[in-house]
Amino acid sequence: MCGIVGYLGARNAVSVLIDGLKRLEYRGYDSAGVAFLNEGALKVHKKVGRIAALEESLQALAPQTRIGIGHTRWATHGRPSDRNAHPHFDCTGKFAVVHNGIIENYGELREQLGARGHRFASETDTEVLAHLVEEAYEGDLCAALRAALEHVRGSYAVALLSEYHPERLVAARKDSPLVVGLGRGEYFLASDIPALLPYARQVYLLSEGEMAELTLDGARVLDRQGEPVAKEIFNVDWDAEAAERGGFPHFMLKEICEQPRALRATLGSRVTPEGDDAVLKEISLTLDELREFTKVTVVACGTAYHAGLIGKYVLEKLARIPVEVDLASEFRYRNPLLDAMTLVVVISQSGETADTIAALREARARGCRVLAVTNVVGSTVAREADQVVYTWAGPEIAVASTKAYTTQLLVMYLLGLLFAKARGTRTAAEIAEVTAALRKIPAQVEMILEQKECLRELAEKYCHCENVFFIGRGLDYAVALEGALKLKEISYIHAEACAAGELKHGTLALIVEGVPVIALATQDELLEKLLSNVKEVKAREGTVLGVCLGKKEEVARTVDHVINLPAAPSFVAPILAVVPLQLLAYYMAAARGCDIDKPRNLAKSVTVE
Ligand code: M6R
Repeated sequence: MCGIVGYLGARNAVSVLIDGLKRLEYRGYDSAGVAFLNEGALKVHKKVGRIAALEESLQALAPQTRIGIGHTRWATHGRPSDRNAHPHFDCTGKFAVVHNGIIENYGELREQLGARGHRFASETDTEVLAHLVEEAYEGDLCAALRAALEHVRGSYAVALLSEYHPERLVAARKDSPLVVGLGRGEYFLASDIPALLPYARQVYLLSEGEMAELTLDGARVLDRQGEPVAKEIFNVDWDAEAAERGGFPHFMLKEICEQPRALRATLGSRVTPEGDDAVLKEISLTLDELREFTKVTVVACGTAYHAGLIGKYVLEKLARIPVEVDLASEFRYRNPLLDAMTLVVVISQSGETADTIAALREARARGCRVLAVTNVVGSTVAREADQVVYTWAGPEIAVASTKAYTTQLLVMYLLGLLFAKARGTRTAAEIAEVTAALRKIPAQVEMILEQKECLRELAEKYCHCENVFFIGRGLDYAVALEGALKLKEISYIHAEACAAGELKHGTLALIVEGVPVIALATQDELLEKLLSNVKEVKAREGTVLGVCLGKKEEVARTVDHVINLPAAPSFVAPILAVVPLQLLAYYMAAARGCDIDKPRNLAKSVTVE
C-alpha cells in the first residue's frame, strides 16, 4: 500500500526520500514521486513503475535540497500513471501533498472546488486536499491543513510542503499510520518505521487526529484544535540489519529461515522456568475474569485469519469455549452477535489493516473487550485494543506472511492454555505436555529447514502446473488453506484448499491425470479417513504429495512423494506442517521467475477497505 516519507535537515533531502521510499517498497506500490524545494521553487518528479525509474529521472538533475516529501502509490482512485502518482499540487503550484488512505467524499469536494474555478491535473481523491489547502491558506501552513481536513471524510496520513515555507513540513493522520522521526537537527516523516531505521531511532507515533509540525528548531505534535500535545518518545530497538536481506535472494526466504528464532523469541519468557506451564504476563485479565467469557470471536484477514482458524480448534479443544472466526471485512458489515461476555481477538501482523481496525472499533463500540495479537509495537491495533500480546517475529518485509503466521499460531496455543487454566478444563499434566511440545517446535522447524534442497527439487518439478489442490482434515484443513494462499499469491498458480471430506462434493471433478494434490496427513486420529480421500485422488490419476509427522508407512505407500516432518503430537503439527508449504511456494515462484517479495497487485499492509 502507499508509503510516505518526509525530510527536513542538513542532508540531501532527495537522497533521504529515495532511500526511505525504497525501504517502503515491500508494502507494494505502482508509482512513486517526490516534491522538494530547489532554489526556493517547489519541484516535483513522479513516475509510474519502480522507484528506480524515479531515481533515474532525478539523476541528471542531482538536486541539492534540504526539504522534501515523497510517496509510493498503490492505485485506488485512477489508474497507475505519472499523472496520478503523488505528490499532488494545487492550482498555483505552491502546495504539494502526499496522502495515504481514501477521501470518501472526494467526488463532491471535487465538484464544489471545480465550481469555484479549481482545475484538476489527476483523477485521484488526494488532489482535492491540495486545492482545499490553497483555499484555506492565510499565512499559517498548519492552520491551512487543519482547515482543509475539516471538509474531508475518510482516512488519511498526509504530509504537506509549501514554497511559502522553505523550512517547514506539516502532517496529519486519521486511520492511517504516520510517525515523526527525531534526528539531531533533522526531522523525518514516515508512514512506517522501516523507512527511518538508518536515520532516527526516536520517534513520535502520531495518534488519531493529531498533526505534526517539523521545523529546524524541532518537531511539535498538535491536537485537532491546534493545541500542543506532550508526546512520549518511542525508542525503536529494531536492528536495521533485520530489515534488510542479509544475503538471502528474497526477504521471503530470509523470513522463512528466521522462524526458529522468531518462535523462540515469541515463546521466550512465556514459559515457566520449570518448562511445564505457559504464562502471558501482558494480559491483565485475571483467571476469574477470563472464566466469565462465554465466547471468543477471532477477527482477521488473509494469513492472520488462517491463524485464527487454527486458534478456534486449539481454544475449543483445550478450553472447551465456543470460538467463532470471522474475516474482518465480513464481520464489520454483518451485525455480529456480540455482548460483554464475548472476548474479541484481533490478529494482525502489521496492526494497520483497515478492515481489522474497523472490526476492532466495532467490537469495542459494542462493549466487548478486545485482545490484539500483533507483530508491530505501537501499531493502531496495539494501541486501540484493551490487551495486546506481541508476536516477536521481528520486521516482516515480504508481502507473503510466513514468520508472522507461525508466531501467531504459537500465541493462539498460549492463549488456549491460559483459557484452559482459567476454565479448569485441563490438568496440570496435560498443560505441561502441550507446553513441552511447544518448546520443541523451534528446533523441529530448524530440522524442516534442512530439507530445503529436496523441497526445491520437488518445487521445480511441479512449477509449470496450472492448478494445485491442498487437502486436509481437522487442523490440517486450516493449514491447507494457508498453503494454498501462500502458493497463489507469490507464484500466480491457481491453488485451492479443500476439506478432504468435501472433495467428492465438487472439487474432485477437477482432478485429472497429473494434477498435483498436496495432502496434509498430520492428524493421527483422522489419518485413515484422509488416506481414503487420497485414494479417491489417486483413482483419478492425480499426483499426491503427502506431508506427515515422522515416518508413516501407510502414507508413504499411498502417495507419490512424501515430506516427513519431525515426530510431534498432532495437536501442534500446524506450526510444523506449514513450513514445507511455505518453501514449496517460494521455490515454485522462484522457478517461475516471479517477483516474490512484491507480488503483482498485492501490498504488505492493506490500509484501505
Ligand atoms: O498485517 P495483517 O496481518 O493484518 O495482514 C493481513 C493480510 O493482508 C495478510 O496476511 C495477507 O493475506 C498476506 N499477504 C498473506 O501472505
